[in-house]
Amino acid sequence: MIRILAIETSCDETAAAVVQDGRIVLSNIVASQVDLHAQYGGIFPELASRLHIEAIVPVIAQAMEQAHLGWGDLDAVAVTRGPGLAGSLVVGVNAAKGIALAHGLPLIGVNHLEGHIYAHWLEQNHRPPITDRRPTGNEPLAATSNRQPATGDKLAFPLLFLIVSGGHTELILMRDHGQYELIGQTLDDAAGEAFDKVARLLNLGYPGGPAIERAARQGNPAAYHFSKPKVDNPFDFSLSGIKTAVLRLVQSKGGTGEGPLPYGLPVHDLAASFQAGVIEQLADRTIAAAQAHNVQAVLLSGGVSANQALRTAMSAQCPQPVHWLPVEWCTDNAAMIGAAAYWRYQAGEHADLNLDVEPNLRLA
Ligand code: KG4
Ligand code: ZN
Repeated sequence: MIRILAIETSCDETAAAVVQDGRIVLSNIVASQVDLHAQYGGIFPELASRLHIEAIVPVIAQAMEQAHLGWGDLDAVAVTRGPGLAGSLVVGVNAAKGIALAHGLPLIGVNHLEGHIYAHWLEQNHRPPITDRRPTGNEPLAATSNRQPATGDKLAFPLLFLIVSGGHTELILMRDHGQYELIGQTLDDAAGEAFDKVARLLNLGYPGGPAIERAARQGNPAAYHFSKPKVDNPFDFSLSGIKTAVLRLVQSKGGTGEGPLPYGLPVHDLAASFQAGVIEQLADRTIAAAQAHNVQAVLLSGGVSANQALRTAMSAQCPQPVHWLPVEWCTDNAAMIGAAAYWRYQAGEHADLNLDVEPNLRLA
């Protein structure tokens, strides 16, 4: 039995979790900064870094407490080392190094995107224990009786991952554990970034994804049509054109794209049409890539994969099975980092205390 304490601070969530055998989430604590960034309409890096410093110690303590474990029960400590905001990543990496040094634990550096992938190896029916009893390690876990294999364990390779978040829009072909090929990516805005920017244009608040999704439910997705961008690689994305088209429509009604909306702006129709345009592009290219690479299944990860319309479109149109995650595992969390770290641990990959942050770390 391998128990890993995982830490994630790459963006605007301070998160810690304890994961057993890469699959069972013994604890999962996320302190979101979203309300504090909302006043700036997006993530303010210096503020993010300061908030991580304030939250990191209590978040880790809570994760250990929720798991009912002491330091001696852990086998390793894992941390996101990139990609992400340098000033945010460094808070998690330094905390992990301190714990590794103080308690003589191996240290594992994890790629944030690998975390989003391995979220699909977490057992979905397992929730952190709510009893106060400290496990001895010998008794079966409370959830053992109704344990179901995680989605990842039920699937054969190759698999295709669409990772769509505030910072990423990537198509990753996974041929085996730890073997990745980046086959498509956004050439401009990330999907979540486009949702956040358009929500701002439409004065819907931050984060934009859930706000657009709510507004879109009352709008007509066919009210506006956005032309498809031309890209050289058929699996690449380009989302800034749709965002600019929405800005032009707001301006055509006399708006500026900041602050109050022009009178009579069809906000719901714009939100619905924008969302439909983004989803059409994501679905088209993902399905084309799934066909071209003959994958066994398509797996959705990242904050934007919380979008119900994206899930519905993908499962309706894709010939291969499509899988998604509970919402708390779509957005950033540390359980997914613990899942990815387990496979690195099994492969004997440990970092030393010189581990550094890599804000532009790539996967493939
Ligand atoms: O994965 P995540 O928590 O953080 C990053 O790694 O970026 O993703 C956050 C992004 C934000 O841009 C947010 O607007 C978007 O995910 N998002 C959504 C939805 N929920 C969150 N986008 C579309 N529809 C949603 N329901
Ligand atoms: Zn993320």
